[in-house]
Amino acid sequence: MAEGNTSSRSSKWSLKGTTALVTGGSKGIGYDIVEQLAELGATVHTCARNEAELNECLNQWVTKGYKITGSVCDVASRAQREDLIARVSSEFNGKLNILVNNVGTNMQKQTLDFTEQDFSFLVNTNLESAFHISQLAHPLLKASNNASIVFMSSIGGVASLNIGTIYSAAKGAIIQLTKNLACEWAKDNIRTNCVAPGPIRTPLAAEHLKDEKLLDAFIERTPLGRIGEPEEVSSLVAFLCLPAASFITGQTICIDGGLTVNCLLLQ
Ligand SMILES: NC(=O)c1ccc[n+]([C@@H]2O[C@H](COP(=O)([O-])OP(=O)(O)OC[C@H]3O[C@@H](n4cnc5c(N)ncnc54)[C@H](OP(=O)(O)O)[C@@H]3O)[C@@H](O)[C@H]2O)c1
Repeated sequence: MAEGNTSSRSSKWSLKGTTALVTGGSKGIGYDIVEQLAELGATVHTCARNEAELNECLNQWVTKGYKITGSVCDVASRAQREDLIARVSSEFNGKLNILVNNVGTNMQKQTLDFTEQDFSFLVNTNLESAFHISQLAHPLLKASNNASIVFMSSIGGVASLNIGTIYSAAKGAIIQLTKNLACEWAKDNIRTNCVAPGPIRTPLAAEHLKDEKLLDAFIERTPLGRIGEPEEVSSLVAFLCLPAASFITGQTICIDGGLTVNCLLLQ
């Protein structure tokens, strides 16, 4: 094979020279996405609410030699979202290649138990923050002339559960947002895709999965017979950001060991 071909093929699997913002990078899936993008060569900025935990991560990443910065931001606050993008713009000279809207949270309540405050909190954290951060980041993404947004949905936004309606509704809306932006922003060289994980071993899920009955019920319905690991989700997110995925936009990929395609597992 000619050398030129080899080098152009390997460049499809590299993020060298790119810039990225990943929200919620101090724990769980976000932590792994930050590391994965940095390993592929991106310079990454991340944020979280807890400053001490964020600083601990930043110190670990310095030791590993990654180009990663971070700032405290509660993405549920409109003003803090504006500060975050101003900071990213100044750090990356007004150009951003990758935006991963990773932050999300859940409340396992029955529909009749949700309060007005629960509704605002869940819709703001899971949907409005991702919408507004994308709006704010648009000029930076457009300026890079080669950009990719990845949204974080959930299997709760694809299939249905008999608990956590507001989370599922917000995650379903994220899937539609992904499709709309793929059409609206393609002209600006911005691709938008979405990842919908099943149960993944993170601090957020640990809360729910310590209920052994729930854990067993998930595993029993999952063809691959286990729950997922954060690095399995971050690999998919990284793939969607790579030049190798340059013709993929508007898509949602479930990463759930087959849970959402399963009707029945016969013994
Ligand atoms: N784990 C699963 O089983 C699963 C399944 C389906 C979908 N998901 C989705 O995957 C995404 C990540 O979930 P995860 O399980 O990795 O969550 P996690 O373990 O709770 O980690 C969340 C990360 O986001 C940060 N964060 C949370 N709220 C924030 C806010 N308002 N502003 C800024 N940062 C915030 C947290 O740091 P601070 O607390 O310091 O802010 C932390 O770094 C979410 O969108 C979730 O809905 C997860």
